[in-house]
Amino acid sequence: MDKLLVRGGKPLAGTVRISGSKNAALPVMAATLLTPGVHRLRNVPRLRDTQTFARVLELLGAKVAFDGNLLTIDTQDANSVEAPYELVKTMRASIYVLGPLLARFGRAKVSLPGGCAWGPRPVNLHLTGLQAMGAQLEIDHGYIVGRNAKLKGATIGFDVVSVGATAQLMMAAVLAQGTTVLENAALEPDVTVLGEVLVGCGARIEGLGSRRLTIHGVPSLQPIDTTIIPDRIEAATFAAVAAMTGGTIRLENVIPDQFEAALRKLEESGCTLQRSADAVTVSGAARPRPVSVVTQPFPGFPTDMQAQMIAVCTIADGTSVVEDTIYTDRFTHVPELARMGARIELKGNVAVVKGVDRLAGAQVMATDLRASACLVIAALAAQGETLVDRIYHLDRGYESLEQKLVALGADIRRIH
Ligand code: EPZ
Repeated sequence: MDKLLVRGGKPLAGTVRISGSKNAALPVMAATLLTPGVHRLRNVPRLRDTQTFARVLELLGAKVAFDGNLLTIDTQDANSVEAPYELVKTMRASIYVLGPLLARFGRAKVSLPGGCAWGPRPVNLHLTGLQAMGAQLEIDHGYIVGRNAKLKGATIGFDVVSVGATAQLMMAAVLAQGTTVLENAALEPDVTVLGEVLVGCGARIEGLGSRRLTIHGVPSLQPIDTTIIPDRIEAATFAAVAAMTGGTIRLENVIPDQFEAALRKLEESGCTLQRSADAVTVSGAARPRPVSVVTQPFPGFPTDMQAQMIAVCTIADGTSVVEDTIYTDRFTHVPELARMGARIELKGNVAVVKGVDRLAGAQVMATDLRASACLVIAALAAQGETLVDRIYHLDRGYESLEQKLVALGADIRRIH
């Protein structure tokens, strides 16, 4: 298994171009199943997760081709409705094919995604929403099996804000008979952009950017031709690198509004920012200031930046408090940071982080995508060498991370 060897301790500086967004690309890839045709998606990041999703689409009979970051998906001959456990277990987002398969074929057999590194991640809102639209679903030997579903419009209110369930039901509703109303919908850019892409293909959706979406079903859609938005979590991660190493990094090809909450928190920790329409320059302070963070659905502070922010807090000049309200047990990075000398006390879903003068390099193990980014960030500021194991997690969501860091002056290399 690949590892990353990092020699830390110096400020990083320079310019980094942010890649396309994983979490925006995956639902758009699923949406190509709604319409038989040739779909073109530009600026798709080359990641394990987009490769896995391409594999799922191929198993459903689509022809998929990457040419650099251009992804062409031909779904004219898609003829299978089964997404197997082997693939779904490696990437929960595979469940995004469920709604489009039911909408197009009236049938689906999709493996139920299990839990993940930090705990249960139910999909009940996806299932109850599709059932409200008339889908007959049952769980059969670990698979969600849907039959003769002619989806109909319905009014669905989400108990909790869910990115996945909002995207899923939006895709199911665009071809349904009648009107669907989604209340307490997610506002994440990944969802709003998916809606805009579908409207660009002829869908009728009102209220994008609000918590109440109204979707009037249409008989058919045009193929997708779109450019995937920049990855706001990758951008915020590099901003945290500047905060952690005390360097100055210019983030290019970004939409600052889409990670504003993270930028504001880094500003509070002492960073200075220069924002422009599609770039942000982040300069870290000599030493970060302590902050308090509470994760929230967008536009609040993203849970996908919680671990990276904790890394910054480990060397702050005082005590920080970081609470995760979205995933209350997403703290598998904490014991690994403790191996580097961090002082973190976990109380339920709250991490109390007492800043130390310096972290020390150590052997650590990544447990999930954002936890691994957190460990790499910590290693970049730590004294000496850090060996980060199981970095396949990183490859799921960061395109050419070590090359980008080396270009900023990092001493980092992959060990196969
Ligand atoms: C998306 O996951 C992202 N994944 C996650 O990013 C991100 O952490 C999450 O949204 C929250 O922002 C992708 O976009 C592929 P949710 P998703 O449904 O859709 C509960 C990363 O690092 N819930 O918004 O699975 C759930 O348990 C990944 O890139 C239900 O109870 O998240 C959680 O507490 C990790 N029932 C909350 O809602 C459901 O049916 C939000 O989950 C669905 C969700």
